[in-house]
Amino acid sequence: MICLLCGDFDPGEEAAWQQALGSALAAALPQAQCWPLADVQAATAAQRAAVQVAFVANPPAGALQGLPGLRLVQSLWAGVDKLLADPTLPPDVPLARMVDPAMTAAMAETALWAVLALQRGFFTYAAQQRAGLWRPHAQRRAQDLCVTVLGQGEMGRAVSAVLARQGHAVQGWRRDGQALAPLLAASDVVVNLLPLTADTRGLINAGFLAQLPRGAALVNLARGAHVVDADLLAALDSGQLSHAVLDVFHTEPLPAGHAYWQHPRVTVLPHAAAFTDPRSAAPVAAANVQAMLAGRPLLGLVDRRRGY
Ligand code: NAP
Ligand code: GLV
Repeated sequence: MICLLCGDFDPGEEAAWQQALGSALAAALPQAQCWPLADVQAATAAQRAAVQVAFVANPPAGALQGLPGLRLVQSLWAGVDKLLADPTLPPDVPLARMVDPAMTAAMAETALWAVLALQRGFFTYAAQQRAGLWRPHAQRRAQDLCVTVLGQGEMGRAVSAVLARQGHAVQGWRRDGQALAPLLAASDVVVNLLPLTADTRGLINAGFLAQLPRGAALVNLARGAHVVDADLLAALDSGQLSHAVLDVFHTEPLPAGHAYWQHPRVTVLPHAAAFTDPRSAAPVAAANVQAMLAGRPLLGLVDRRRGY
């Protein structure tokens, strides 16, 4: 079996995936080979027809065309919004997203760090240090902050659990029709862990932000397009929002000169909340290949109509 391995990998990352996937597949499928996109594109028609699996991490649009034997697209990313936006994605091939407990644990760490720093004013102290300012502030307890976690999937549930253990009141929001307004009205911090879909794009806009108590904070760890940037900046400038921790952006890398870079109430992370780690994710991907071959249910099967 030939597997395509394709994505916008950093230097060295593709080799790490080749190695990790090779060893994860070896035990059950010793004949399996992972080919990079260039090799698949240069392959004969028979070789292309032998590609049954595609391991993809934000592949270029069109990368999965012309593979008549494709039986599984396994995303190495948890979010599949970019893949689903590619009109050439083969419509009938099952698509699985990455569900890796190590990635989920990393996300919980990031959310815990952000909420703890907001609770205790550590972002304010960092800014005060840059200004040479010695000014202690009131010390808030975890119980003093109610956190709303948008999305109660793999990531949202883990984040909610760690924040509840920390002592916060935690409210979760999912797609079950629960009204958002009362949750927002009670939120000191909102952590966004929604998938980017037609329903969630632009959700965090002026109307959303106005429903929060004055001085609340936002932690966006999901996708930049959930946020209307101009509305968020206006809320920060007016003091409606006290701080935003942003890991994800409309354009990544965040362009030089973007208002977020220098904004005193914004903390920027370079889409680093939770990376996929080949050491733990390759066995997850390999297990899904085996499940596909055996006709068993896939972990993280995407419902294309829902968009996640
Ligand atoms: P998931 O397991 O698919 O969970 C999605 C959750 O969002 C579910 O609870 C779902 O509700 C809810 N949801 C979907 N549409 C909704 C809507 N319109 N209204 C209310 N709730 C809605 O996804 P996940 O694994 O937790 O990942 C979430 C996102 O995190 C990914 O899509 C990705 O964009 C992002 N992510 C970011 C990083 C990073 O490094 N920054 C890393 C990994 C993932 P139901 O439970 O009712 O279905
Ligand atoms: C990262 O953002 C992912 O979706 O895995």
